[in-house]
Amino acid sequence: MDVKIILTVNGKKSSVMTDPKRPLLDVLREDLHLTGTKYGCGEARCGACTVLVDGRGVLSCVTPVADADKKTIVTIEGLAKGDCLHPVQEAFLAEGAIQCGYCTPGMILTAVVLLERNPQPKDHEIAEEMNGNLCRCCNYLKILAAIRRAAGQGSEVSKS
Ligand code: FES
Ligand code: FES
Repeated sequence: MDVKIILTVNGKKSSVMTDPKRPLLDVLREDLHLTGTKYGCGEARCGACTVLVDGRGVLSCVTPVADADKKTIVTIEGLAKGDCLHPVQEAFLAEGAIQCGYCTPGMILTAVVLLERNPQPKDHEIAEEMNGNLCRCCNYLKILAAIRRAAGQGSEVSKS
């Protein structure tokens, strides 16, 4: 049975009538037309569907929309402020950390969470945090460089 779900997505409040078990990803893409969030595996294995719910990174493909009821959600569409990209978005562009771009929204949102919690991560901490986000283009070194750049550490990858 459908229920009313209230979502505040990228600062805009929306109400949807839907099956509460439906994945948050489907509601974002199909009902709210926010197609920046990607469907990769659908089973919590790739990170392409990552969004922020109350500031935490969640895999929207396996998150029932009811779990996001009355919560604040940020998708890749909500990171920029007007024409001003988020520093992590700027860093991904500057480092060429985007090939096909399919993993990029999830990568960027996961990196945002990491840098908010740990603004100066070591390379191994970046690797650990990003471990759940897969890039089929295998652009991992440039993604690492972009996160280092966003953290103000330069883009050269260290061995530490
Ligand atoms: S689509 Fe959600 S983790 Fe792969
Ligand atoms: S850039 Fe293509 S999947 Fe990562």
